[in-house]
Amino acid sequence: MALPEHMLETVKNDPLIGEIEAIQDGQSVDYWSFKNATRRKGAHALIHYPAMMVPSLQGKLLDAIKKASPTVSEVLDPFVGSGTILVEAMCRGFNFTGLDINPLAALACLAKSGPYYVEAFEQKCFEVCATIRADSGRRHYVKFENQEKWFDDEISRMISRIARGIENEQKLWARRLFWLALAKVVRTSCNSRMSTYKLHIRKDLTAERANPIDVFENVLDGFLANLQQQYEVWSAADLLQGGRYRQSVQVKLGDSRALLSEEGLAKKFDVVMTSPPYGDNTTTIPYGQYSYLPLKWIPLDDIAQDIDPALLSNAYAVDSASLGGSKRKATERGSELVNNYQSARTFSNTMPVNSSEFKRFASFFADLDDCAEKIANVTKAGGYQTWTIGNRRIGGQRVPMEEILGEMLERRGVDTVGHIRRTIHAKKMAARNSVSATMSQETILLARKRQQSAVLSG
Ligand SMILES: C[S@@+](CC[C@H](N)C(=O)[O-])C[C@H]1O[C@@H](n2cnc3c(N)ncnc32)[C@H](O)[C@@H]1O
Repeated sequence: MALPEHMLETVKNDPLIGEIEAIQDGQSVDYWSFKNATRRKGAHALIHYPAMMVPSLQGKLLDAIKKASPTVSEVLDPFVGSGTILVEAMCRGFNFTGLDINPLAALACLAKSGPYYVEAFEQKCFEVCATIRADSGRRHYVKFENQEKWFDDEISRMISRIARGIENEQKLWARRLFWLALAKVVRTSCNSRMSTYKLHIRKDLTAERANPIDVFENVLDGFLANLQQQYEVWSAADLLQGGRYRQSVQVKLGDSRALLSEEGLAKKFDVVMTSPPYGDNTTTIPYGQYSYLPLKWIPLDDIAQDIDPALLSNAYAVDSASLGGSKRKATERGSELVNNYQSARTFSNTMPVNSSEFKRFASFFADLDDCAEKIANVTKAGGYQTWTIGNRRIGGQRVPMEEILGEMLERRGVDTVGHIRRTIHAKKMAARNSVSATMSQETILLARKRQQSAVLSG
C-alpha cells in the first residue's frame, strides 16, 4: 500500500482534523513517520517491550485532541503495554487508566507511574547492590519447569542473589523498579535468543555471558539517569508534588473486556488512545512468551493481588488468554462477523469457513468486536478515540483491519473522522516474519463518539 499524497486522510469534518492539519502544515509528507525520533528517554526508557509506539507521535495526537476539546481530562489505554500513552498522558497532566493482560506490562506501567523519589532510590540502589554482593548463598530463589534449559545453573544462582536482595527491600515502589531492572537482566542472561520475541534456544550456548549482577548494576545506573531526567521535566512543569504525580494513574491487570465491564471501573473517558494487538499473539507478536522468563522470577504479589497463577503455568498461557487466543466457537463467531460487517464479509469470502485461517481471523476479530463495544460504552459522548493499527496478512491476504475496526466502531456510535498513514521506522518489527510483511506501515484511525449516540442495531 503506497502512502497517500497527504498523510492525513479526512473522512469527516471535525475540529480534530483541523488541529492535525495545523500540526502537519509545512512539514514533509512523511512527517507522521517520525523518522528522526530521538532515542527513548526518561520514563519511556525504563523498559523495552514489543511493538512500542513512538512517544512523540502519540504526544502530538494528545495535544491535537486537547486543542480540539479543551476540557479533556480522563484518558484510557485498554491495551497499555509498556505504557507509552501512560507517560505521554502524565506529561500533559491528564488522569490516566491503563489495562493489560500481561503482568510484565502492568509492572512496567506501575513503575513508570511513580513515585519519583530519585534520591531515595539512589540510596536504595546502593543498599541493594551491597546486599547482593555480600550474599554468597547458592540456594535457588525459584524452581520451575525447564529452568535448566533456559538458564545455566551458575546464572540461575546469581539471578537468585539479585532476587533475594530485591525481596529484602521494604518499599513496594522501589521493589517494582528493581523487578523491572531484573526483567532486563533475565532477558540478557537467559538462553533464549535476543533476536526474536519468541522463546528459542540460542545457537551460541557456550559463548561467555556477562555477569548478571554486573548487568543489574548497569541497568540501575540507567534507571537512575532516566528517573532523574523525568523528575526534572515533570517538576519544572509542576506535575509532581513531593515526587508523586499530582493527578491519578490507575493500572489494572486483566482482560480489558472483563475490566471494562466491572463496576469498579465504571467511569467514562474523554479520550481512548491505544494500539491493540495486530492479531492473535501466537501468530503475530507473542507478548506473553516475551515476558514469560522474567515473570518466573518476579513475585506476582508485587504486581497485583490475586493474579491467577495459571497465567504463568506455561510460556503460552498469557498469549492464549489474549485477544484471539481462544478458537472456541470460532465458526459461529465468524459468521456473526460476516453478517455484521461488509469488510469482514469481503475478506472472508476468499477462505472456507472451516479453514484454520478463517478460525484465526474470526476468533481475533470477534474478540476485538467485544472490545470495541466495551470501549465505546466507556467513551463519553463527543469523546475521541485513536487506534494505532497495523495491517497484517492471513493466508497471504492483507487483513483489512482499518476497515473492519471502522465498521465495528460505527456500529457503536463512534464515527471515523480520519486516518493518518505512516511508515514504521523505529519499531523493532519482525520484518523477516512473513505474517508481518505488511507491518512496515501502520494507520492511526481517528474517531469520535457521536454526541447523540444512536447505536445501530443488528
Ligand atoms: C500493541 S501492544 C501495546 C503496546 C503499547 N502501545 C506500547 O507502546 O508499549 C498490545 C497489548 O495488548 C495486550 N493485550 C492483548 N490482549 C489483551 C486483552 N484481552 N486485554 C488486555 N490487554 C491485552 C498485550 O499484552 C499487549 O501488551
